[in-house]
Amino acid sequence: MDESYIKRLFPGIEEIKNEEFKKGVISAWLISAQKGNWNDIKDIPFTLLIPTKKSLIEHTNAVTEMAIAIARVRPDLDFDIVVAGALVHDVGKLLEYELKNGKFVKSCYGELVRHPVSGYQIVLEAGLPLEIAHIVAAHSEEGEKVKRSPEAILIHHCDFIDFEIEKRRLGIK
Ligand SMILES: [Fe+2]
Repeated sequence: MDESYIKRLFPGIEEIKNEEFKKGVISAWLISAQKGNWNDIKDIPFTLLIPTKKSLIEHTNAVTEMAIAIARVRPDLDFDIVVAGALVHDVGKLLEYELKNGKFVKSCYGELVRHPVSGYQIVLEAGLPLEIAHIVAAHSEEGEKVKRSPEAILIHHCDFIDFEIEKRRLGIK
């Protein structure tokens, strides 16, 4: 996997105007793939909580597209922070999951550290600013303990819209 492969997986990267953020998003995915020992990331499921066929890449792109649409009607939000934050919000899942005997399962690392925490660390390591790391750290339940930024509120809701609809579609309460 290289820079051009990540760009092809995530077309939303091209929506970011800030060149440093673009580089940081690509770098975050490459760092995470390396730490998680993945040769390819395209088939990783977006969650192990429900039996969905939706991949992590499809979920990330759906959340990014929803976030872009909302950011366009809320110009008071920082557009680049929203897009970059959406693109990396689940980057830590590459450490939380592993492929064992042909099945995606929670890794030993994932038993101890959830993706908002590992993702936060990876995003900072990739050179992205704290405002984006905050989105990653606060996008899930962990974020209930802090005051989410407006951009983090947006990503949190887009993430749960995608998850809850998928859950309902599968007939799960
Ligand atoms: Fe997510």
